[in-house]
Amino acid sequence: MIQETIVTSQNAEGLVHIAPMGIHIDGDRFIILPFRPSTTLDNILATGSAVLNYCDDVRVFAGCLTGRRDWPVQPAEKVQGSVLVGALAHTELVLDSVEDDATRPKLFCKAVYTVNHAPFQGFNRAQFSVLEAAILISRLQWLPPEKIATEIAYLKIGFEKTAGPRELEAWQWLMVVIDAHQGRSS
Ligand SMILES: Cc1cc2nc3c(=O)[nH]c(=O)nc-3n(C[C@H](O)[C@H](O)[C@H](O)COP(=O)(O)O)c2cc1C
Repeated sequence: MIQETIVTSQNAEGLVHIAPMGIHIDGDRFIILPFRPSTTLDNILATGSAVLNYCDDVRVFAGCLTGRRDWPVQPAEKVQGSVLVGALAHTELVLDSVEDDATRPKLFCKAVYTVNHAPFQGFNRAQFSVLEAAILISRLQWLPPEKIATEIAYLKIGFEKTAGPRELEAWQWLMVVIDAHQGRSS
């Protein structure tokens, strides 16, 4: 199973990095798969730790993909790391082993601490649409413009029916990037 999370990591000097990542969950193993080059990869190799933040504020996902990485954090409890203040829950990880790869290494991690901060509010289709549109942005250079247009048109259906203010803001950030890429003014 893959869970879309916000990974927070730190470099050796303690500088925090925030990035959305799809984490593979295999029993009690958490596998992080960063595409090279990756600050998240460099940081986890440097400190041997990371934090998974389970977050329903999709502005963090959209923000990281549109140059807005400065989200509030607080110190982790058990590892060298930071927790996203807006997370509903988080898991602190230590690096167990690495399967190296020229394109996408696998970082096998173990959980050392998990805590809930706020209740899960239920599924929301606009949040799904924002996540999918953010993933499209991370792949813009590989996708034909027609595919991008078709996918956005589909994602917009659920988005328009169910979005709240956070989703509207996140979607607007993403559409500025997509419209610029598609050669239109936004
Ligand atoms: C929902 C979502 C899931 C993502 N999952 C991954 C992932 O598993 N691996 C990856 O390298 N990038 C993933 N990305 C893209 C990264 O967040 C983005 O490219 C980021 O800058 C990674 O590089 P960094 O570690 O240098 O920040 C994902 C993006 C989104 C929106």
